[in-house]
Amino acid sequence: MPSPVSVIVVGAGCRGETYSQFARIYPDRMKVVGVADPRQYACKKLQEQHNIAEKNIFEDWHGILEREKFADCVLVCTPDRLHKEPAVAFARQGYHLLLEKPMATTVEDCTEIVAACTESGVMLTVCHVLRYEPIIHKIKELIDFGAIGDVVHIQHLEPVGWYHFAHSFVRGNWRNEAESSFALLAKSCHDIDLIHHWAGGRRCLKVSSFGALSHFRKESKPAGATNRCLDCPVEGDCAYSSKKIYLDGVKQGNVGWPVSVICPTSLPDIESVTEALRTGPYGRCVYDCDNDVCTNQVVNMEFEGGLTAAFSMVAFTESICQRKTTIYGSKGELSCDGHEIRVFDFVNRRMTKHTAPNQTPEGFSMTGHGAADFKLMEAFISAVANNDPSLIRSGPEETLRSHRLVFEAERSRRESRVVDCSAIDHHQVSA
Ligand SMILES: NC(=O)c1ccc[n+]([C@@H]2O[C@H](COP(=O)([O-])OP(=O)(O)OC[C@H]3O[C@@H](n4cnc5c(N)ncnc54)[C@H](O)[C@@H]3O)[C@@H](O)[C@H]2O)c1
Repeated sequence: MPSPVSVIVVGAGCRGETYSQFARIYPDRMKVVGVADPRQYACKKLQEQHNIAEKNIFEDWHGILEREKFADCVLVCTPDRLHKEPAVAFARQGYHLLLEKPMATTVEDCTEIVAACTESGVMLTVCHVLRYEPIIHKIKELIDFGAIGDVVHIQHLEPVGWYHFAHSFVRGNWRNEAESSFALLAKSCHDIDLIHHWAGGRRCLKVSSFGALSHFRKESKPAGATNRCLDCPVEGDCAYSSKKIYLDGVKQGNVGWPVSVICPTSLPDIESVTEALRTGPYGRCVYDCDNDVCTNQVVNMEFEGGLTAAFSMVAFTESICQRKTTIYGSKGELSCDGHEIRVFDFVNRRMTKHTAPNQTPEGFSMTGHGAADFKLMEAFISAVANNDPSLIRSGPEETLRSHRLVFEAERSRRESRVVDCSAIDHHQVSA
């Protein structure tokens, strides 16, 4: 029997831990043999779960490079600004890479990662997990099957969710561009990638974008509000109260996301969560943070052949990340609410409904991406085990092209102009 694919986890936070679970379910297919994270608690947790040898625990990713290559691949799950350096270094050492999105925070860095992987002959899977979501994959199959004829227009909404946005993009790790990246890259590179994928290889010619940071500003702070929710007299009337988001959650027994994120060095309980709200970033008033990323942004795109696309990202939604898509074709209309696809056929005037199996094996935590995280890992591990990059749906070339669109859209928003992206052609990317 072939030995399991061996994996080192770099960044044992939410994502690193989630992907590692694949090894617990399929020990004959994947083995976690090393971990690097400055947080002792995170390393210890992974070490216990996967029985990792003490010599393979590192405080920082550089330590791994000082050793001879001792695994097949590395999962790079560090914060956004810490992707490029480890990705390039590990690729050059011959490790296959699973790299969290965004690939990196500049076009130049993304391009360098792809070049390092290509030159070293290693496989790269970028965690555009939505590509692996069964219902979303089904949309692509229906388009390719011709169910709606020629695709003419794509409308896609990413509803981030009111408390999710407050957690991640006002109080949390992605709130400030200088510390992480702009919102379209951090949150919506998935979505621009999907639009690009559904456009089916047609080049995007022009892009325009508008967006703003609305509401989560000092001038919106209610009269009488204090800087922390724990002692705020008007907290009861606030949709973004951290007491409601975290403390009520843990009181009801929820110790998963987002509560788990705010206690990075221990298991969350009422005491540790209260302390985190008293002293940590997640207890701050949402109108008094150092956030600067957009809460709402639109992107319009024109592709070859006249195909147009309109994308919206908005913070203020009931739904948490459950995308809504409508694709208009010459023979029919396709819409998807994340659970079911409806296709109305203009020829026979009938509507058909389509679903896709969405189960994950027991023990693989559902992190808001349904079965997508699991399917992504399955594809990556199978690709490495069989030396078959064709199993990867989010490989270097296409991912780089869609990341470049994200950077061009943001350029449009900043410079208030339509950006010509016709130069992002296939040859340039693969050069
Ligand atoms: N694919 C997706 O849908 C998706 C969803 C959420 C987040 N992400 C991305 O995944 C990445 C990780 O996000 P997360 O939510 O797991 O964050 P996290 O903060 O939970 O985990 C990041 C980990 O990296 C560790 N780290 C920091 N410096 C390090 C170093 N020098 N060496 C090794 N480890 C180091 C941190 O201590 C932390 O444990 C980010 O880039 C984020 O944008 C992707």
